[in-house]
Amino acid sequence: MSESSPGGPERRARELRRALRHHSYLYYVRNQPEISDERFDELFRELKALEESHPELVTPDSPTQRVGAEPLDAFETIEHTASMLSLDSSADVEPLERFDERMRKALGEDIAYVVEPKLDGASIELVYEDGRLSRAVTRGDGVRGEGVTENVRTIHSVPLRLRGADREVPALLALRAEVIMRVGDFEALNARLLERDRAPFANPRNAAAGSLRQLDPRITAARPLDIYVFDILAIDGRPPPTQRATLEALREWGLPVNERCRPAASVEEILAFHGEIEAGRDDLEYEIDGIVIKLDDIAARDEVGETSHHPRWAFAFKFPPRKEVTRLLHIFPSVGRTGVVTPIAFMRPVELGGVTVSRANLHNREEVARKDIREGDRVRVQRAGDVIPQVLERIEEPGRERAEPWVMPGECPSCGTALEPRGPYTFCPNLFACPAQLAGRIQHLGSRHALDIEGLGEETANLLVRRNVIAHVPELFELEPATLVELEGFAEKSANNLVEAIAAARRTELARFIYGLGIPEVGTTVAREIAAHFLSFEAFRSADDETLQTVDGIGPRMAEQITTFLARPEVSAVVDELRGFIEPVPPPRAGDALAGLRIVLTGGLESMSRSEAGKKLEAQGAKVTSSVSKQTSYVVAGENPGRKLERAQTLGVEILDEAGLLALLSGGPDALPAPDETPAPDAAADAPEAEASADASESDAI
Ligand code: IVH
Repeated sequence: MSESSPGGPERRARELRRALRHHSYLYYVRNQPEISDERFDELFRELKALEESHPELVTPDSPTQRVGAEPLDAFETIEHTASMLSLDSSADVEPLERFDERMRKALGEDIAYVVEPKLDGASIELVYEDGRLSRAVTRGDGVRGEGVTENVRTIHSVPLRLRGADREVPALLALRAEVIMRVGDFEALNARLLERDRAPFANPRNAAAGSLRQLDPRITAARPLDIYVFDILAIDGRPPPTQRATLEALREWGLPVNERCRPAASVEEILAFHGEIEAGRDDLEYEIDGIVIKLDDIAARDEVGETSHHPRWAFAFKFPPRKEVTRLLHIFPSVGRTGVVTPIAFMRPVELGGVTVSRANLHNREEVARKDIREGDRVRVQRAGDVIPQVLERIEEPGRERAEPWVMPGECPSCGTALEPRGPYTFCPNLFACPAQLAGRIQHLGSRHALDIEGLGEETANLLVRRNVIAHVPELFELEPATLVELEGFAEKSANNLVEAIAAARRTELARFIYGLGIPEVGTTVAREIAAHFLSFEAFRSADDETLQTVDGIGPRMAEQITTFLARPEVSAVVDELRGFIEPVPPPRAGDALAGLRIVLTGGLESMSRSEAGKKLEAQGAKVTSSVSKQTSYVVAGENPGRKLERAQTLGVEILDEAGLLALLSGGPDALPAPDETPAPDAAADAPEAEASADASESDAI
């Protein structure tokens, strides 16, 4: 058939889209292609040509639109439709038996489970509105994650549109899924990365997560990702009554569901499934780290409920971690940011489940003594939960002479201060005066969830301390490019960039500042709670233990740790000085001038950088997003604006120039001239995209 067929190009485009969608489904989801790759490509090219000559026929869910989005400046933070809890888990049988007992006690003896492989990939939420993929959000902290929709659209097994032939498609469907990379694809990707002198990924899970978090969707598109969907997070209308029915419904909507899921009614059946899956683990094309047991009856799930971390109706029965034997070469005491001195084992490199391991954490001196591990010993190592490798035990070598038992040094290897034992741990009490702790604290302050200072990683922090450029954390804010260029690894541009990034970080969110101080026990979540509760740093700083405990997530122990830390004179002095440089912005309140506005920035600004503008807007409650939609309140177009301007014009979104932005910042929306008085920016519609991908080094996609 050709363009001149009855109904013309519009109808043909619709036919082609339908055919391509169907054949993609057969190929990528069912693994049962019915046409050749050549025929598929032919249909695809025909649709592409048709859409090129009739751009008005392009629909967002057209198979040609999987890759098409521009690189983002940053991912948007998006709240999940329903929180994505984690799973209660263990590799031992006993906790599994207790789980089963609890279920029987709550629901009676006649119990039905579904058992599924626990896929070891990146957890994600997919949202379909009226059957169309509207967003994909990483798990993040379980409440909100990063919007990676454009990247997920590039995964061929993710339908851009649900199939409605066998089952009605709900108006809203939020799903939980796992993005994976198959082992063969992972190895091929690593080989390509190595060929280009780029760092390989440690395992398929990191490769999947890293590929999902590319700012340029073209890079993600070049990565062989796949997905399995296993749960409904939210649905408009009545949910399927059981997990079995859920999996069936997901299949009918054209979503990829793991084929190894099956019913089970007892611990025996669960153990049998676990044994079978574990035995076949190495033959599977993808990595799994256990099985998941779920109550089949969805209504019963509500009865048993959930804790703040995990549902009580599911349990992950994990596989024991992978183990290997190697030789321990050397034990080195390493001083962390909080002063804890950790013995680190350096070992002859060994492969553990596809990852080369050469270092392991020995935790503390008592652990080294208890396991009687000495330099030169043969040791068994494991990757537990596939994170940091551990030395499990030493292996006897009769007749071989062993080294002396390892002892923790009496003095800090970094600053020479006498070390102090605290329980099994060892501390250097020298705080900021210890170079290792100072460097660690500088690095932490600049880290992604703190002040997010680009270019201030571990290496740079160490260099600044080692070369005596910074002897005191607040001096970071007095750095000058001229000092930096004297250091190895810095050129004029990188020196300027770092100084600029540090200057930009002076205005930061209160929660980031609090987290960046590295207060014991205060992670990003608690920091956010503190910021929301106190709204000013001073209010937080002067709070006593009792007041602190009124904050969500802070108990008596944490409250005491916080007040003790902040009361230390050295800490207090640093905090005072930092406050002279940093202006933390409280989280937005409902009354904030720009609350509720969604703003997109494009092109260069004269009076500030785009990221500064973003921070200023957010400080007043606006939401700064990277893509233009009908929900966008304003698009601020600077010099050489990109395609976002065009899109704003198409959608009729109000466009502001830099003067408009400044007016908005100083007086809110009321300070703006009426829309028809706004001078139209004189940028040509086809001006080159000014925004560079923040991940420019990745620009040639592999
Ligand atoms: S159910 C709240 N089923 O495991 C329960 N999770 O350790 C929802 N995972 O982040 C999860 N395979 O992404 C479920 N068949 C499966 C799974 C699975 C892998 C992941 C999931 C979660 C993690 C928890």
